[in-house]
Amino acid sequence: MAKPEKMILVCNNQRPSGHPRGCCMEKSSRDVTMEISEALDDRNLFGKVSLASTGCLGPCSLGPLVVVQPDNTWYKEVTKENLQLIIDEHIVGGNVVEKLVMTDADWE
Ligand code: FES
Repeated sequence: MAKPEKMILVCNNQRPSGHPRGCCMEKSSRDVTMEISEALDDRNLFGKVSLASTGCLGPCSLGPLVVVQPDNTWYKEVTKENLQLIIDEHIVGGNVVEKLVMTDADWE
């Protein structure tokens, strides 16, 4: 097996209902993960791009979070709709989808 060129990490952390920090799982991160898996499969990208679920990545209020490595690009509030843009523009095209990236202010 060849070393993947990129890795997509999706937070699938789950907290109890009503937890003050919320979690990506309650914002449909599982559906996002499944859609990414299907999108990679549709484009024959498995092997070149790996996909993994993670625990909490930190900025829970902005979830679901998707991180593309080794680019260190953090996408926020990813939906089943806008993840296709991430796959086509970033993963296939090599261009970061700036409008979906966490800003410096998001880190403060
Ligand atoms: S629960 Fe997903 S970033 Fe914290």
